Amino acid sequence: MTASLIAIASGKGGVGKTFLAIALAQSFARLRQRTLLLDGDLGLANIDVQLGLQPKGDLLSVVTGRMNMADAVSAFDGGAGGGGFDVMAGRSGSGALRSLPARDVHLLGQSIKMTAARYDRTVVDLGAGLDTTMLDIAAFCGQVLVVLTDEPTSLTDAYAFIKVISQRPGAPALAVVVNMARDEREAQRTYAALERACIKFLGFAPPLAGIVRGDPRVRDAIRAQTPYLTRSPAGTAVAGIGKLAATIDTVFAERSAHPHLAARAQ
Ligand SMILES: Nc1ncnc2c1ncn2[C@@H]1O[C@H](COP(=O)(O)OP(=O)(O)OP(=O)(O)O)[C@@H](O)[C@H]1O
Ligand SMILES: [Mg+2]
Repeated sequence: MTASLIAIASGKGGVGKTFLAIALAQSFARLRQRTLLLDGDLGLANIDVQLGLQPKGDLLSVVTGRMNMADAVSAFDGGAGGGGFDVMAGRSGSGALRSLPARDVHLLGQSIKMTAARYDRTVVDLGAGLDTTMLDIAAFCGQVLVVLTDEPTSLTDAYAFIKVISQRPGAPALAVVVNMARDEREAQRTYAALERACIKFLGFAPPLAGIVRGDPRVRDAIRAQTPYLTRSPAGTAVAGIGKLAATIDTVFAERSAHPHLAARAQ
């Protein structure tokens, strides 16, 4: 398969981006796709902590030229269920990557692309908010999953993210994931509210890529620094994640995922 770069974004913090990024990376790996999980949360990187990994290097050491991308990735062993993948850690709390000059953001993008070319899949976990650097990274990934929950603030923040990114030149393909859903119907309602706002004010709406149920065991897995899919194979969120990983390419291929094409079609 050709290399694909998918960023996970949301606007609002704490909606499950990092959880989904890890779970998706593991799902792709279980589908026998060579996968890299890259921590692109430039302010509060914590993928290595959630996985209990001691990273060899991190994104900052790459950007500052102290390490090359290939040396800075660490292997994460998927354990008995398979699904090992590589991880490019971030540097939590340093803040150094947040205020990168435009030229360095471009270089960062280029080195991410070069590294991603060696994998079938690269999943990039982004930070919350609408930082310019974060939006730049989201845009050059080409495909962005926007995560929301049933909280009203999550809806407005997801809308704001979609609005801002879709109005940039070279806007990426967009699709939506409803996370922490109580059930299918509630999740459909949550998506429908976002869809209505997007169509009314932006003239297009990104398609729904998947629904992931809420499960208290997600929190337990993070606390245990073990991936959820490994720790809770029968958990209520497992099916939604598997389906998302299996169908994501079809969803991103839809016309409505592409802001410019979709807006013109309305
Ligand atoms: N499907 C789910 N069911 C239950 N809890 C969940 C689910 N997804 C995420 N959570 C919980 O929500 C919290 C936030 O998750 P996570 O850190 O992945 O969010 P985030 O969007 O990456 O946050 P930030 O914006 O701070 O980076 C965690 O405590 C996690 O356990
Ligand atoms: Mg996060």
